[in-house]
Amino acid sequence: MSLAKLVMAKLLSVFLFMEVIASGFRFGVDGLRMDYYIMTCPFGEQIVKNAVDRALDDDPTLAAALVRMHFHDCFIEDNKAEKDSPGNLSLRGYEVIDDAKNQLEEQCPGVVSCADIIAMAARDAIFWAGGPIYDIPKGRKDGRRSKIEDTINLPFPTFNASELIRAFGQRGFTAQEMVVLSGAHTIGVARCSSFKSRLTGVDPTLDSDFAKTLSKTCSAGDNAEQPFDATRNDFDNLYFNALIRKAGVLFSDQTLLTNAKTRAAVNGYAMNQAMFFLDFQQAMVKMGMVDVKEGGKGEVRHNCRKIN
Ligand code: HEM
Repeated sequence: MSLAKLVMAKLLSVFLFMEVIASGFRFGVDGLRMDYYIMTCPFGEQIVKNAVDRALDDDPTLAAALVRMHFHDCFIEDNKAEKDSPGNLSLRGYEVIDDAKNQLEEQCPGVVSCADIIAMAARDAIFWAGGPIYDIPKGRKDGRRSKIEDTINLPFPTFNASELIRAFGQRGFTAQEMVVLSGAHTIGVARCSSFKSRLTGVDPTLDSDFAKTLSKTCSAGDNAEQPFDATRNDFDNLYFNALIRKAGVLFSDQTLLTNAKTRAAVNGYAMNQAMFFLDFQQAMVKMGMVDVKEGGKGEVRHNCRKIN
C-alpha cells in the first residue's frame, strides 16, 4: 500500500470512529435524539420556548407548574386525562402547552408529540427561572390510554425517605438522583392540604417557628399556598438550605435531611449550587426517558388534552 493510501485509510478509520462517537451522542437510549425534529420541524424548539417565555413573562408562577407537569407525565403510565385525579388537581399550565401545540400544528402538523412539548417546556421553564440550560433528547410518542388510576404511581408527600428511595428506585433512580430531583421544589408552592398533617402534635424535624408559619398559612384554608422556599420563582439551592434549617414544607422534603442515606446529598447541594445544577440537569434528562414510548407504541396527539 502506498503511503498516501495508508494515510487515507487511517484518516478514514479515524473519521468513522468519530462518527460512531458522535452518533452515540445524537442517538440517546431508546432511539430518542437531540436533533429528532431537525428535518420535520426545525423551528419546533423555538416555538415552544417562545410560548413558555411569553407565558412566564405574564405569570412567573407557571414555571413551577410546567416542571411539575413534566414530572407527573414521566411518572404516570400515561398522560393528560389524569389531570382530573386528586394528585393532579393543582396541576396548572395546560394552556401554555395548548398554545405551543397549536402553533406547532400550524407549522408542522402531526409531528411534535405532547410528551416532547411538555419535556421542552419544563426545560425552558427551569432556565427561565434561573436554573441550568441543557439539551434533551426528543422523539417521545404520546400514550394511547389515559387513566385516572395511573396517578397512584406518584409518590405521596407523606412518604418517608425509605419509601421515596423505593418509589424512585422502581423507576431506576438512585437515592441521590431522587434528592436532586426533589430540588425542583426550589420553585413553586404546596397547598395546606399537602402538609397540614404535620401540624398536629410535635414534629421534632420541623422548626417551631416554621411550624407557626405553616399554621398561619393553613388558617386561610386547605387551598392556601405555602412557597417551598423564600424565592418561589427562582431556581436556586435555597430549598436545600431550608431543609437544613428544618424548614422543609412537605414531610417528604424534610425527611431527606432526617435519613442518613440522603442527608449527605442535601448538605452537598445546600453548599454547592453549581453541583446541584449539574446533577439536576442530568437527572432531568434521565427522568425524561422513563417509560418513553416510541414509534408504533404511541401516537402524536393532535390535541394534548385527549387521545386521538
Ligand atoms: C420526591 C417525591 C415528590 C413528592 C412526594 C412531591 C409532592 C408534591 C406536592 C404534594 C406538591 C404540592 C401540590 C399542592 O399542594 O398543590 C408538589 C409541588 C411541586 N412539585 Fe413535587 N413532589 C415530588 C417530586 C417532584 C419532582 C421530582 C419534581 C420535578 C422534577 C417536582 C416538581 C414540583 C413542583 C415544581 C411543584 C410546585 C408546583 C406549583 O407551584 O404549581 N416534584 N410536589
